[in-house]
Amino acid sequence: MNPYSVDAFKKEIDQGKSLFLLDIRGLEDFKKGHIEAKNLTTHNLPYADWPTLEKTQIEALLPKDQEIVVVCYRGRTSAIATADLEKLGYRANSLQGGMQAWDSYYSETPILVSPELSIYQITRVAKGCLSYLMTSGKEGVLIDPTRHLQTYLNLIEKLGVRLKAIIDSHAHADHLSGGKELSKKLEVPYFLHPYDAIHPKDLLPATFSYNILSKEPILIGKNKLEILHVPGHTLGNSAFLLNNHYFFSGDSLFIDSIARPDLGERTKEWAALHYHSLRALWHLPDEVTVLPGHFYQQSTTKTIGELKIFNEGFIQSQNSLEEFTDYILKHLPEHPAEYPEIKRGNLGLISVTEEEANRLEQGKNACAIT
Ligand SMILES: [Fe+2]
Repeated sequence: MNPYSVDAFKKEIDQGKSLFLLDIRGLEDFKKGHIEAKNLTTHNLPYADWPTLEKTQIEALLPKDQEIVVVCYRGRTSAIATADLEKLGYRANSLQGGMQAWDSYYSETPILVSPELSIYQITRVAKGCLSYLMTSGKEGVLIDPTRHLQTYLNLIEKLGVRLKAIIDSHAHADHLSGGKELSKKLEVPYFLHPYDAIHPKDLLPATFSYNILSKEPILIGKNKLEILHVPGHTLGNSAFLLNNHYFFSGDSLFIDSIARPDLGERTKEWAALHYHSLRALWHLPDEVTVLPGHFYQQSTTKTIGELKIFNEGFIQSQNSLEEFTDYILKHLPEHPAEYPEIKRGNLGLISVTEEEANRLEQGKNACAIT
């Protein structure tokens, strides 16, 4: 048996290696979210069903000429299943830590590195969430950290920076924010737009204190971070323009899509807000680099000019409000049942255990229209 790490697995899929992923979790969990990548064939065969299968049935389903990666919840059952497969003559590897390790796997990409200004994009691969650390000298600002704080703590320590602000671009519904907890740990002010500090369904306010995200710019060294209020995805949804060139779009504009405006269950009203926000963003200079809050296909950065050409939702914002709303209504994905609960967690209205967090956050984010 060859146990193999999520890190090694991620590197191989990034290199485009052709792999066969055998996900042995239950069908319901598989449907909620599974690993997908180019050149990766994914197949669900719950381990609970294996005793009912004949050897010939397994051989009909699984390739002998390809390396098989076996994944379960935590990497224990997959180790047993891998040994079973090896006895049948397969080349198989068990993914260490299973989906739990995959869900909490992060990578970081330097977008720009210089003493005056550095920008790091931190990717939570499984959920498609992006956070950003920008630094100048020993000063830094962090946007949209997710709940696995160690990733951020390691990077902050490695760079030797002191944060002056931790900002959530909005109250997230797809994942649990790490912002408030990290701000306590590092004794750094935590910023949120006040409109987002009220749960849209429960109409209850956040149970913690926060700094009001206003239009007052934040300086990082000599770099100016402007704060733009871009309601639509949420009422307090905010985005950030650094030095008039780097646009941290949060959940307004993504690279290949736009944010969904229906999570507050006021779809038409919020679609109208979204429409005006996107139209305002259309006026950003074409050369501005967009750094979004989520990614869907491979790309995690493009310019405003490029988005004007191929981002359909962004282009639709140039039509009438009626046409835009119609487009939104036709392209809304299902509203995940966990989202109101995740937002309760993010506003401190409930406390969430690690186990509960893993369950709530299963699968990729569904913050964009499709
Ligand atoms: Fe989101």
